[in-house]
Parts: sequence; C-alpha cells; structure tokens
Amino acid sequence: MRVLYPGSFDPVHNGHVEIVELAAHLFDEVIVAALHNPQKGTPLFSFEERESMLNDSLSFLSNVKVVMSTGLVVDLAKKEKAELMIKGLRAVSDFESELQMARINKQISGIETVFLPSTTESSFVASKYIREIAQFGGDVSAMVPEPVAKMLKEKSK
Ligand code: PNS
Repeated sequence: MRVLYPGSFDPVHNGHVEIVELAAHLFDEVIVAALHNPQKGTPLFSFEERESMLNDSLSFLSNVKVVMSTGLVVDLAKKEKAELMIKGLRAVSDFESELQMARINKQISGIETVFLPSTTESSFVASKYIREIAQFGGDVSAMVPEPVAKMLKEKSK
C-alpha cells in the first residue's frame, strides 16, 4: 500500500523521522509531502529548503519519496495515488485538530487518515520550538537530523 505523510516540516525533526521510519516499515511506499499550512503563517524555510532537508534526512529509507505541493493535501494524495494518509500523534493535545482535519479530508475526498503514535522520547519535540531555540542560538542538535542542524545554523547567522 502507498501512503502519504503530509506536514509543514518547517523544519523536519527527529519525531517526524521516527514516524516515517515506522510507516516505511508498515507500508510498501511512503510519500512524504511538504505543504503549506495557512494556519501557521509564513514558514521559516522555503519549500525548496524543506524538500532538500527532507531528502537529506530520509535518504536511508529506500521506499520513501519526498514531494512538495502548494495545493490541497487530498488533491496531492489522489495525484500520487496514495490510498491512505498518515499523521503522527504526540499527545492528546494533537488529537482534536488532527481528527478534525482527518474527518474533513475524508468528507471531501473519501481518503482516510491513520494516526501513528510518537515515541515517548519525541512526544515533546515540535518544529516551532526548534525554530525558536535555534533563532536564539540554542543547541537543537539532539532533536533534528544533522542536515537540519546545519541549515538552522546558517539561518540564524
Ligand atoms: O505539520 P502540520 O502543520 O500539522 O501539517 C498540516 C498540513 C500542512 C498537512 C495541512 O495544513 C494541510 O493539509 N495543508 C494543505 C492545504 C489543505 O489541504 N488544507 C485542508 C486541511 S483540512
């Protein structure tokens, strides 16, 4: 089965990588898609930068492909012939908004979303805090893949 893992990935962190690894183990093909989240305002990284960091961070998984899209996630899922979408859940606080998006996406397209749990170690990691810590010169290297740590250092110069 081919599945789509959509997100902002601004930037991708170790919690995302764990979800992709789990999905790559469970499903035949995983398409990781960087999309625009209008709820989150202007991203720190461009689509091209996010795509490049995703490719560099996930190249060790042979059944994973990275794409980006400026449109609706369900249109991308159809274009890529994904049968399911997957999302990671860190804590109960994620559940309400994720469930709402999943139900709306199902209603407008018929495509179901399946939730995969984050590990306890990653349950607190969030891109917004990684951006904030890095912008103030803090060390985020334990929470992000090496290529992302490098890009964050460049951005905060
Ligand atoms: O990592 P995020 O920010 O939680 O991911 C949210 C994302 C990008 C998957 C969501 O905002 C999205 O699907 N954006 C594309 C536009 C779209 O399809 N919106 C409908 C949401 S119900």
